[in-house]
Amino acid sequence: MATTVTFLGHGTFLVETNGTRVLIDPFLTGNPSASMTAEEVPADVIILSHGHGDHVGDAINVANRTGALVIANHEIVEWLTGQGVTTTHAQHIGGQHDFAWGTVKLTIAHHGSMLPDGSDGGNPCGILLKLTDGTIYHAADTGLFYDMKLIGEDGIDLAILPIGDNFTMGPDDALKAVKLIEPRRVIPDHYDTWPLIAQDATAWADRVRAETDTEPLVLQPGDSCELGG
Ligand code: NI
Ligand code: MN
Repeated sequence: MATTVTFLGHGTFLVETNGTRVLIDPFLTGNPSASMTAEEVPADVIILSHGHGDHVGDAINVANRTGALVIANHEIVEWLTGQGVTTTHAQHIGGQHDFAWGTVKLTIAHHGSMLPDGSDGGNPCGILLKLTDGTIYHAADTGLFYDMKLIGEDGIDLAILPIGDNFTMGPDDALKAVKLIEPRRVIPDHYDTWPLIAQDATAWADRVRAETDTEPLVLQPGDSCELGG
């Protein structure tokens, strides 16, 4: 069975795997690059990488509308519970858990995680998804770290890496990340949402193609790819 990955803008992705719709970091309201609204986005599962508003985003509203299971670190899950979200699953860095549709592991990320109301969002995380037809590493917001090499040892079919700079890795460090992870394919994200993080993703993709064996995929918001494709 196939897994389809759709870029919804910024760091938001919809992963549809064997009929289960996994929504990562649903930031649609107030996102100038969003290709879908919070009112229409489907979700059976929501995974949150960290507490910042451009990642927690619409999680509460979408969870309440859809009844989706929300997976995040312990601190964010505690906060969501306090906000009235009833279906949650807490994990933490280094821990993985098998769900019926796939396995979720949280990885380290070098960033912050304060929640929109100033609450402590714990440590920021990256998200590793092991699905029936491949493995996805969504690095989320992070600077470059050498342990990406360890994450790559799991055999990554698709890496999603920020290239926007200023808040996360920029193009040069994201290229180094590709060399450490050695994924089969890579999608750049977290750029062009605002002028501060504007980047030439096509130029970055050319560098990936020239300097690595990884296939870069530059998706526009609303574009999809097949994980096994
Ligand atoms: Ni952030
Ligand atoms: Mn962010």
